[in-house]
Amino acid sequence: MSKTKIKYVCSNCGYESPNWLGKCPSCGEWNTFTEEKFSTSRSRSKTEATAKIVKLDGTTAPEEKRILTGINEFDRTLGGGFMPGSLVLIGGDPGIGKSTLIMQAAAKAEVETLYVTGEESANQINSRAKRLGISSDKISLFTETDYEEIEKSVLKLKPELLIIDSIQTIYDPKIDNPPGSVTQLREVTSNLMRLSKTNNITTVIIGHVTKEGFIAGPKILEHIVDTVLQFEGEKNYSFRILRALKNRFGNTNEIGVFEMTQNGLRQVENPSEIFLSQKEKELPGSVITASLEGSRAVLIEIQALTTYSNYGNPQRVATGLDYKRLAILLAVLEKRAGLRTSYNNVFVNIAGGLKIFEPAVDLAVCAAIASSINDKVIPSDVLLLGEIGLGGEARNVSNIEKRISEAEKLGIKTAFVPKGNLKNLKSSKLKTIAVGDISEAFSKLGIV
Ligand code: TYD
Ligand code: MG
Repeated sequence: MSKTKIKYVCSNCGYESPNWLGKCPSCGEWNTFTEEKFSTSRSRSKTEATAKIVKLDGTTAPEEKRILTGINEFDRTLGGGFMPGSLVLIGGDPGIGKSTLIMQAAAKAEVETLYVTGEESANQINSRAKRLGISSDKISLFTETDYEEIEKSVLKLKPELLIIDSIQTIYDPKIDNPPGSVTQLREVTSNLMRLSKTNNITTVIIGHVTKEGFIAGPKILEHIVDTVLQFEGEKNYSFRILRALKNRFGNTNEIGVFEMTQNGLRQVENPSEIFLSQKEKELPGSVITASLEGSRAVLIEIQALTTYSNYGNPQRVATGLDYKRLAILLAVLEKRAGLRTSYNNVFVNIAGGLKIFEPAVDLAVCAAIASSINDKVIPSDVLLLGEIGLGGEARNVSNIEKRISEAEKLGIKTAFVPKGNLKNLKSSKLKTIAVGDISEAFSKLGIV
C-alpha cells in the first residue's frame, strides 16, 4: 500500500527535511522551505535500460553530427549547435524572449520539432509565428501539461527536437504535488532526460527565473541537464545576451548577443559596436576596455561618476560589475594612488547593460573613477587592460592578442597593457604602452 508522507523541501537547493526550517542548512537561504507530499511506494514505470556495458575506448567514438540552427549566435553558445539527444535548459525572466528565441531557432533548424506549450494556446503561438514570419510544416504544436500525454506523443511522433515551454507548467500525474514544485520539476526533468537519451531526441526545456533566481539559486535542474543557457537582458535595453552557464558539449562563458526587434530577435555579430555606439562626446569618467566573453573579445565602455559626499557614508553603486570588486578597487585607489575615494559617492556602470565578471577590466574601472574625480578626460581611442592587485600592481590579462586585435579593428590607437603582457604581444598597428602599476598608468594617461 502506498503511504503519503509530508516532507519540507528547500525551493532553492532541493534540500529535504522532515520538518519546516526557517533557514536552509544546505544553502543558507531563508524562508525557502515548502511542504511537499511524497508517496512512499511510488510505482514508477521504468524505461528499459538501453545503455549496454561497453569498454572505455577513446579512439573509435564517432563524431556526432550536431543539429545546427543556422543562427550563429545561438549555435556558438551551444558549442556548435545542439548535440543530438542532449537536454538543454534555457532560463530567463518572463518576457525576455525565450519562446521567441527557441521558435526562431527551431524554424531555422528545419528538423522535425514537437513544440509543447503549457503556457500559451496554439493560437497565441501561431500569432507569434506570424509576427516572426515563420511558417513551417516541420513544427507541430501541442498544448499539454500532463507529462504522460507528452511522452506518449513524443514516442508516437519521434521528433528530432522537443521543446517544453515551460517546465514550470508540466506535471507528472503520478506525483501528488502541484506543477512547479521542487518535486515535480525534478521528476519531470529526469523523465525528460530519460526520454531524450533513450530515443536520441534533443530536448529544450524553458524555465522561468523565479524571484529567488531559478537558475542562479536552485541547483536542482542544473545537474540533471547537459547544458544550461541563460537568456538575460535589462528591461530598458533591447539587447539580449544568451550565456552558457554549463555545457557538457562546449565552452561555458560563451555568449550570443541578440537584439529584440519588432520582428523577433536579430543576431548581433559584432557586439563591440553596440556597446560603444552611444558615445557622442568625450567626458571624464568614460573608459574603453576589452572584456573576454567566451571565445571572443568585446569592447565595452566603463562609466564612472563621482560626487562629493556630504555625509559620513558615501554611496557605492555598481551596475554590471561586482560590487565587492568595486569596493576593493576603491580601497586600492585610496591607498596606492592617493585618491580620496572615501569622500566620494561612486557610481560605476557598464554601458549597454552588459555584465562583466572578469578582473581584466580593473585598470579601466580604476582609471574611470580617477578620471571622474580629477575631471580629466581619457580619449576615446585609448584602451585600458589589466587586473589590479592589492598593491596597485597591474597584473597580466589572458588572451591579450584577441583583445588588442578587436580594439585595432574598432579604431583604437593606443592600448595601456600590463608590463608582463608585453612578451605575449606581436607587433600591431596599435601603440602599446606598458604599465607596472596604477600610479604609472595614471601619470602616463595624464589624469592625476
Ligand atoms: P517571449 O518570447 O514571449 O518571452 P518569454 O518566452 O521569455 O516569456 O517574448 C516576449 C516579449 O518580447 C514581449 O514583451 C514582446 C516582445 N517581442 C518583440 O518585441 N518582438 C517580437 O517579434 C516578439 C515575438 C516579441
Ligand atoms: Mg514564453
